[in-house]
Amino acid sequence: MDLIDKRIVLGMTGGIACYKIAELVRRLTEQGATVDVVMTEAATHFITPVTMQALSGRPVFIDAWDARVPNNMAHIDLTRGADAVLIAPASADFMAKLAHGEASDLLSTLCLARACPMLVAPAMNREMWANPATQRNVAQLRADGIAILGPDSGSQACGEVGDGRMLEAHQLLAEVVAFFQPKLLAGKRVLMTAGPTSEPIDPVRVLSNRSSGKTGYALARAAHEAGAQVTLVSGPTSLPAPYGVSLIPVMTARQMHAAVMAEAGSADLFIAVAAVADWYVKNASAQKIKKTGSGAPQLEFEANPDILADVAGLPDGPWCVGFAAETENLAQHAEDKRRRKNIPVLVGNLAQNVMDADTTEMALFDAQGMHPLPAASKLDAARRLVAEIAARLPKRRA
Ligand code: C5P
Repeated sequence: MDLIDKRIVLGMTGGIACYKIAELVRRLTEQGATVDVVMTEAATHFITPVTMQALSGRPVFIDAWDARVPNNMAHIDLTRGADAVLIAPASADFMAKLAHGEASDLLSTLCLARACPMLVAPAMNREMWANPATQRNVAQLRADGIAILGPDSGSQACGEVGDGRMLEAHQLLAEVVAFFQPKLLAGKRVLMTAGPTSEPIDPVRVLSNRSSGKTGYALARAAHEAGAQVTLVSGPTSLPAPYGVSLIPVMTARQMHAAVMAEAGSADLFIAVAAVADWYVKNASAQKIKKTGSGAPQLEFEANPDILADVAGLPDGPWCVGFAAETENLAQHAEDKRRRKNIPVLVGNLAQNVMDADTTEMALFDAQGMHPLPAASKLDAARRLVAEIAARLPKRRA
């Protein structure tokens, strides 16, 4: 659970995107958050307070004069214990109020009276979003230290297509979870590889490695949560792209190599998690190889480029972290590999313990030796690893 002990005031304003907030409240509470829903009168025209109360399990507040609050000061009472105020959906009208510090109803008063950070998820028609007045207000909110989440682009409830759609519930959840993670990689550009590579034998057959991509994707998510700008070059997996991460899909090791080398020059950190095939089939067939009586096809192999070694060898290249999945003698193989590839950090694990699993147990190897990390879910382990990497990353890169 990513939001245990977190108290969130969820402010809803008038917009059709209110329907997405029912789902968001469920997801926030599933992650352990306590959610106090505060609605403007306009929001109650789109979804009922009864629904929001049932989902949050807590009373919903609308009116500044709500006598249920013992001291009759709901605007103070609701925010004092809160870790964040999230306004979703945020209408153009409400953002204008926020930008000008108005306190004309319970929600706007509470925003002005809050002592905690605020996140705002705009939701409006594309022309309303593009209007210079709205853009002025958004710039003002950013300047005031308020995080603006989205908006997304796409089809809108009004029938038009463009910018202004509110993020989906799962994206808002990812933003809120990320908000509470320490920004250990703020401003850093992180390039990563993940998943297996897939080397064609013919148009329907491939050689590949067993890799679900779960560790690499979790690490990409954790790096993004830590404030990095993340590019993930991934072989084929069944996983959705981590939210906020720029994904470059590839199939073969040579494609992965080309994509990585094109991005490596601008990266501060390169993390090679992919299970790259060591060889490709040199005599791959352009047509499907038929089963004939003459026995098995004779495949010829050629070594794939070593992506990590090539990046580590760049004169002004990024700081490199490698991975090694071994089946035995982890400490010896991992340290050998770290030295051979000439990289500052290599992360090792025992393949049979982590393959396809949702949990992992890793050890970090650096010039000081081996540092075992606790067994954990792949996401928790990834967050821990980000902290370990951030602590070792040189402060200033030439
Ligand atoms: O060479 P080996 O596969 O044992 O090393 C594993 C590490 O090297 C991993 O970080 C993997 O992503 C990377 N690697 C690579 N290109 C290859 C082979 C491995 O980047 N061709």
